[in-house]
Amino acid sequence: MKVGVIGSGGREHALCFSLKNSNKIKEIFCFPGNAGTNSIATNIDIDVKDFEKLKDFIIQKDIDFVVIGPEKPLVDGIVDYLEKFKIKVFGPNKIASKLEGSKIFTKKICEKYKIPTAKFGIFLNTKTALSFLKKCNFPIVIKADGLAAGKGVYISENYTEASIAVNEIFGGKFGKAENLLIEEFLTGEEMSFFIISDGKSYKMFGTAQDHKRVLEGDKGKNTGGMGAYSPSRLETNILNLKITKKIIEPTLKGLRELDCEYKGFLYAGLMIVNEEPFLIEYNVRMGDPECQTLLPKLKTDFSIILRKCIDQKLHELNIEWYDDKSICIVLCSKGYPDSYKNNVLLKLEQLKLNKNHFIFHAGTKILENKIFSNGGRVLNVVTRSNDFKSARDETLKLLDEINWENGFYRKDIGHKVIQE
Ligand code: AMP
Ligand code: GLY
Repeated sequence: MKVGVIGSGGREHALCFSLKNSNKIKEIFCFPGNAGTNSIATNIDIDVKDFEKLKDFIIQKDIDFVVIGPEKPLVDGIVDYLEKFKIKVFGPNKIASKLEGSKIFTKKICEKYKIPTAKFGIFLNTKTALSFLKKCNFPIVIKADGLAAGKGVYISENYTEASIAVNEIFGGKFGKAENLLIEEFLTGEEMSFFIISDGKSYKMFGTAQDHKRVLEGDKGKNTGGMGAYSPSRLETNILNLKITKKIIEPTLKGLRELDCEYKGFLYAGLMIVNEEPFLIEYNVRMGDPECQTLLPKLKTDFSIILRKCIDQKLHELNIEWYDDKSICIVLCSKGYPDSYKNNVLLKLEQLKLNKNHFIFHAGTKILENKIFSNGGRVLNVVTRSNDFKSARDETLKLLDEINWENGFYRKDIGHKVIQE
């Protein structure tokens, strides 16, 4: 089979890598890819926003199916567009993608199907939002409705902070805002919970925990993700059952009642409060860097899983995993998440990887056979092991060997699951 992967981050390199391991896959095209995907796939320099050019290329090369990595093209309707031309696609359509594209859409489904989530209100203008905030207890959470690359969420400790958030959102910081959400602050432990769905049935696809803050001890600014580990320490059969029965299944039912089948990965960002799950947000794709952390543990041929999903035969398959732990640490450019230098040389030839080590490229590019940085998050270094401590130790050793002069990384990824 020939397959296309859309995107250019660490998640997409991990998707390409897992597909490459299948003897059913003859050729992979990555749009536009990075230096890592370049070594296992053919990178095609087409702008991901240009659906028409993508479609022409996919048809011309007779690609059997396409996997969409990031949320933006999904929310913009790439699946609906490609399917019009009879192209097979793994990913949710435009309506289903509103689960990530509009927090208010998701909250309305939660309300209708009694899905546990933080209590919330929707506000249409600054005046009503501010007068509500005058009467609130703090901290409180204020969210822009649409996609904001993980930045549209404010946790406000007092009225002054909250009023800044409201003014920024209605001032257009995350695009034109017709409304915003104010929600109750939940205290608990977060967990990322994944399923894969073919529209008719679904299966669990693992759990993980990411670290979003830039500094050790989970301090400092929010980033796209400094690392992750899998599984979450909270995972139990009882909790899994609560999550699927109280959150996932009512959501899929709600979509079905909107005449919409959910196809693709669904990622529930949860807060677990006293062993009870609350939905914080949905993402309509794999997490990044959770994907890089999870896929190395997958035993079943990934291409078969995707193919079964596309053919709506997922129920025929038993998805198997290695019973291991894994940790991913992200090597970032100095300065990230603020300004940083690009085009800095990376030397990776000296690295000696064993079968439990994985390097997934994120912000890299290749020029005259040399690898250069091309973003804030540059490499994802992953180790699979029997225990979290050795997974982290080995990952840190690899990062030390990479010894990249322009880089930094957190040494405490997984601190909740590793006793020092
Ligand atoms: P989101 O983009 O919705 O995942 O929010 C980003 C982060 O804000 C989450 O990972 C949580 O750490 C935090 N957060 C969002 N909503 C809440 C909430 N209702 N209570 C506590 N923390 C929250
Ligand atoms: N790891 C968070 C995300 O992918 O949105």
